[in-house]
Amino acid sequence: TLRNLLQKLKISHSLSFDEWVTLINGRTPKLSEELFAMARDQRHRYYGHDVYVRGLIEFTNYCKNDCLYCGIRKSNRNAHRYRLTKDQILDCCKTGYQLGFRTFVLQGGEDGYFTDERIIDLIHAIKKDYPDCAVTLSIGEKSRASYQAFFDAGADRYLLRHETFDHAHYESLHPPGLTAASRQKCLWDLKSIGYQVGTGFMVGSPGQVAEHLAEDMQFIQQLNPQMIGIGPFIPHHDTPFADQAAGTLELTLFLLGLLRLMLPKVLLPATTALGTIHPKGRELGILAGANVVMPNLSPTDVRKDYLLYDNKICTGEEAAECRHDLEKRMQSIGYQVVTARGDSLNI
Ligand code: 5AD
Repeated sequence: TLRNLLQKLKISHSLSFDEWVTLINGRTPKLSEELFAMARDQRHRYYGHDVYVRGLIEFTNYCKNDCLYCGIRKSNRNAHRYRLTKDQILDCCKTGYQLGFRTFVLQGGEDGYFTDERIIDLIHAIKKDYPDCAVTLSIGEKSRASYQAFFDAGADRYLLRHETFDHAHYESLHPPGLTAASRQKCLWDLKSIGYQVGTGFMVGSPGQVAEHLAEDMQFIQQLNPQMIGIGPFIPHHDTPFADQAAGTLELTLFLLGLLRLMLPKVLLPATTALGTIHPKGRELGILAGANVVMPNLSPTDVRKDYLLYDNKICTGEEAAECRHDLEKRMQSIGYQVVTARGDSLNI
């Protein structure tokens, strides 16, 4: 039965391909509630009721790629492009530090202006001013040598979602030249260099079926990352996927619960996309087993330009409002935001 599969997952942290498919396709509201209770149990055991926060700095929306789902894809002529200066980025960190952030995530499109040299200079500057903070990079596919150089400069963590494991499905979401194989090679490189690595995928991306998700689960189990970011696909009006259906809250929550049972010590954010498809999406994510939130630290005037999808939340709020709003939201469900680097126990 499906309940037995949940028990098996909880005990052995692994399922066969067919078992994943059965569980995903057979899920019911009742089974989901059981899963969420089990996932919370595991989460409380390792991380208590603490919620880690990451200050997200979206420092450039220039991108050389043309991913079919993404609002900042190269061919979107309507995107208003911006880059933050080094001083602006350091200002974000200063505000963030005062608000209790101890992790800064530098996220951007694949922007040729930001050479390795410029990225290394940024890492040095942040680490010099904030030696007690973790620096996370989320800047896409690079050579192993570049990843190594960023690591040597002091970067601690790297986020690179695999997006979807299945090669044909990957190709249907990306322009020619981008492959699942090169994406996955990057992740293995990052891991072997010694980064705390985050991967993940979109839920409900066009063409996705349960078999793809089963492959995603098996890939993540193999990679054994420290962090996993998943969120619903949400169409952006200026992309080829403008008219595709969004991923659902319900399936995203179910997968969060499964991920928590598969890798109990993983750091699992309740993502902004989840908060965008439902007003209580992030709270529900935490209650399904997530333990991280990533509020926006970018300057208010550029937030409306970093739109990967439509209706993104928190694009008008100040950093302080974002942070305090989340604090209240987490308290309302019995959890507390903590001031800590929040390194993964999954080592
Ligand atoms: N809907 C949801 N998530 C998206 N991302 C990019 N475009 C969209 C979209 N339209 C996600 C990708 C990427 C991350 C930064 O944002 O998974 O890795």
